[in-house]
Amino acid sequence: MPLDFSKLDDKRIFVTGAADGIGAALARLFRGAGARVFLCDVAEERLREAAHGLDAPFAACDVRNTTALARVVERAWREFGGLDLVCANAGVVAQGPILEASREELDWIFDINVRGVLDTCRPFVRLLREHRRQGHILMTGSEAALSYPRLIHGMQLTAYLMTKHAVLALADGLRADVAAEDIGVSVLCPGPVATNLSQSSQALRPTAAGAAPGATAAPGSARPPSAGITPAVQERLGVLSLSPDVIAERALEGLRRGLFVIPTHPHTADDVDHRQAEIRAGLAALPTT
Ligand SMILES: NC(=O)c1ccc[n+]([C@@H]2O[C@H](COP(=O)([O-])OP(=O)(O)OC[C@H]3O[C@@H](n4cnc5c(N)ncnc54)[C@H](O)[C@@H]3O)[C@@H](O)[C@H]2O)c1
Repeated sequence: MPLDFSKLDDKRIFVTGAADGIGAALARLFRGAGARVFLCDVAEERLREAAHGLDAPFAACDVRNTTALARVVERAWREFGGLDLVCANAGVVAQGPILEASREELDWIFDINVRGVLDTCRPFVRLLREHRRQGHILMTGSEAALSYPRLIHGMQLTAYLMTKHAVLALADGLRADVAAEDIGVSVLCPGPVATNLSQSSQALRPTAAGAAPGATAAPGSARPPSAGITPAVQERLGVLSLSPDVIAERALEGLRRGLFVIPTHPHTADDVDHRQAEIRAGLAALPTT
């Protein structure tokens, strides 16, 4: 039986990437509806502010630190006497030609966007199993998990696209693994959202901070966040961008409807249709005998 999200005042929720953007909006929405919310993010100062505003517990943690992350999930479980929903939302973006992406930068984005999501789910599912409880996982993917959105052609976001496709694959596989248990999985797939994703990622990326001594990115691998965005694309992004609060509302509506894929922008349908048409064309070209 899927968890009933029509009511939130009995829910205990854990959110990563909760200091800002979509994660902070999810935390606000859930808290405003009476849920208990535990906030987690690597940006300690912003996290503290976000948590104080909601009178919610929090823990600063880098989702790349598997052991520390498991301890934080366990702490949230202990403090709340269980968790019903875990939102594996923390993520970063990287921009640049994929052939010039350094190993270090690819490891960085995959460690956060893919392994970080998996490692957020692991302790939660373990605890649910140990305590024979029902629970739900909401991963934040992207519309870039569903196709190669036309809007971002030319923006050289291939590494990001790869990680978001991997998040969808992870959600699919995990859903199959827990199919016989009372554990649900959904993937939030937003189009453009008005957040500080580019700026916060730029500040966190290995060449700016946290790089191994002597490590450098390949020339041209990571660019300023606005690289490749023409004024026309900028304008279109402005028109299509939704606020994180709207995304949080659409996420909740998706959870209430029991959706696996939760898109947020109607234009995603065109990109998905295009991808489907390409697949169909390939299939139609198969020999008939
Ligand atoms: N903004 C968009 O247009 C958009 C569209 C689709 C999907 N998304 C996805 O939404 C999610 C949230 O992004 P956002 O747009 O709200 O950006 P954001 O930068 O406002 O929020 C991301 C948060 O994740 C945190 N974070 C980054 N690395 C971390 C780490 N290693 N450990 C713990 N926390 C970490 C950041 O400190 C930040 O608070 C991401 O997964 C992103 O890929 C964003």
